[in-house]
Amino acid sequence: EVRRELIIAIDGPSGSGKSTLSRLLAERLGYLNIDTGAMYRSVALAASRAGIDPGEEERLAALCAGLDIRFRQNGDGGLRVLLNGEDVSGPIRQPAISRLTPRIASVPAVREALVAQQRRLGAEGGVVLEGRDIGSVVFPDADIKFYLFASAEERGRRRWLELKAKGFEVELDQTIREVEERDRTDMEREVAPLIRPEDAVDIDTGGLSIDEVLERLLAAVETIRRRR
Ligand code: DC
Repeated sequence: EVRRELIIAIDGPSGSGKSTLSRLLAERLGYLNIDTGAMYRSVALAASRAGIDPGEEERLAALCAGLDIRFRQNGDGGLRVLLNGEDVSGPIRQPAISRLTPRIASVPAVREALVAQQRRLGAEGGVVLEGRDIGSVVFPDADIKFYLFASAEERGRRRWLELKAKGFEVELDQTIREVEERDRTDMEREVAPLIRPEDAVDIDTGGLSIDEVLERLLAAVETIRRRR
């Protein structure tokens, strides 16, 4: 009997621990991890380099048609993003690109192109896709959908600790306000807003360690596998 491997969707707001957990879950299952936020960031980087503005939808559509975005899992646990063969994992996290990405990600032609590519990458199963609209738009029929969240205070605090560790002097209040601001942009935009899919398994990651969340994800995946 041939069993197709699972399509696992993980959605949630930024700072919910999605990226780390998707990567760890994919590693444990031997699955491919597709970080769709990194795909939108890659298009933003390419647009910025080509001098294309978020308002220029036709040029963005043409740009997307010529982009080849791939993922490579590193031995050391890192996920590398390759844009036409170039490792752009660092550049796509630059603050200027982080600010540009939401505007690029609201352009319908960009979403169409990336959603099509995400469906191709995931069609065979054996994938953990992570983003904002995976369970709602990209794979509404995913075998299992998770929605990871945490309060804005908790996510702001995590972000603040990360920034402090990197040597940035920032106010905690300020990082919490920025998290709330991003939530609003992600949830209120017209195109593929962040929503919790009705049939998703909810996990509040506040107060849980990474290992504790991972164990919950693995337990839910095991339940689905046994049922098949
Ligand atoms: O998760 P992230 O911070 O890397 O996401 C970067 C941006 O891309 C963020 O503004 C949300 C957007 N995004 C999206 O619109 N749809 C997705 N499936 C994933 C990310």
